[in-house]
Amino acid sequence: MVRLLVTGGAGFIGANFVAYVLQSHSEVEITILDKLTYAGNRNSIAKLLGSRVKLVVGDICDGPLVAKLVCQTDMIVHFAAESHNDNSLSNPWPFIQTNIVGTYTLIQAATKYHKRFHHISTDEVYGDLPLPGNDVKFTTTSPYQPSSPYSASKASSDMLVRAWIRSFGLQATISNCSNNYGPYQYIEKFIPRQITNILSGRRPKLYGSGNNVRDWIHVNDHSVAIWDILTKGRIGETYLIGANGEMSNKAVLEMILRLMGKSQDAYDIVKDRPGHDLRYAIDATKLRDDLGWQPRYTDFQSGLQATINWYSDHQDWWQADKNKVEASYARKNQ
Ligand code: NAD
Ligand code: DAU
Repeated sequence: MVRLLVTGGAGFIGANFVAYVLQSHSEVEITILDKLTYAGNRNSIAKLLGSRVKLVVGDICDGPLVAKLVCQTDMIVHFAAESHNDNSLSNPWPFIQTNIVGTYTLIQAATKYHKRFHHISTDEVYGDLPLPGNDVKFTTTSPYQPSSPYSASKASSDMLVRAWIRSFGLQATISNCSNNYGPYQYIEKFIPRQITNILSGRRPKLYGSGNNVRDWIHVNDHSVAIWDILTKGRIGETYLIGANGEMSNKAVLEMILRLMGKSQDAYDIVKDRPGHDLRYAIDATKLRDDLGWQPRYTDFQSGLQATINWYSDHQDWWQADKNKVEASYARKNQ
């Protein structure tokens, strides 16, 4: 058996990744290390726990705990992070602590025990691009220009991993992915917020003009890409993950409204995000050419419909937090 330590495995992408590995790679045993912050949910992994998957509730900044778990594993996939831009604008400190100090704690242990490490990062480290009208996309040589405390903390963590690879021989790879969508995403994020607003009788909320563009990828395509990099990627390399899914926020929201039987203009325009990145777009040629990865969820509308169905069918997963999340947005006029 191969032993895999997954940090942040009770969060959105981590939980989907654990489910994918459990189903598709029978030779793997998984330990999830998760602090179960507001964004981590035991119910996202409850049915996965058993002989091949166990959960350790703890903090990636806890050096002795991290050292013990890293020593007992073969490979580490590091998802755990504070992940929401809006929260980083209100209170950056947890982002500095978890995203930077937590990553430092993990790579120190992975270096000490000579363990394979894969660092999950974001396209936001590259800042933003001009709105469509030109073909420019992020590549692995794009300069780091993070805009928010969240993206700056992720950029910092990438830099630490790169330095540990070069100076200490850490056996690591990095991936920078675009915006994920799918089941189990916390309801503070754009797509699940709008779906659950409609399901709970509220109006969707669009920041500013709605012209900002995100490059959407289904979370299952992200999981397969991570597995490919973990098992076939070249040590020291960075891979960009994206599925050519560029759409404006307004277009995504109008599609949600149409799929949920509402009129196209049944939403509110609210205060824009300070420093709001205009556009992200990924050139994933290296991942496709070097590792043969291909996205399978290429029809965004049917992926979105399945996601709407999931939130509609799993109201017990999100209802308890809905009032609290919306009250917090309302205090910021969002
Ligand atoms: P999420 O917020 O849904 O989940 C984060 C998980 O990390 C939660 O389970 C939380 O409890 C856990 N966690 C937070 N702080 C911790 C700590 N100190 N110790 C242990 N566990 C802790 O995030 P997500 O959207 O699943 O993102 C996962 C990773 O993927 C992050 O590193 C994020 O930067 C990256 N990423 C996300 C996206 C996206 O679209 N969501 C895109 C690209 C990259
Ligand atoms: O690009 C990858 C990143 O994608 C990840 O690194 C982050 O962890 C993840 O949260 C996501 O960041 P974004 O800031 O792009 O995602 P968010 O869901 O917060 O917002 C998506 C877009 O929708 C963004 O342009 C802001 C806008 N928005 C968001 C919310 C919550 C709205 O218009 N209305 C909203 O209510």
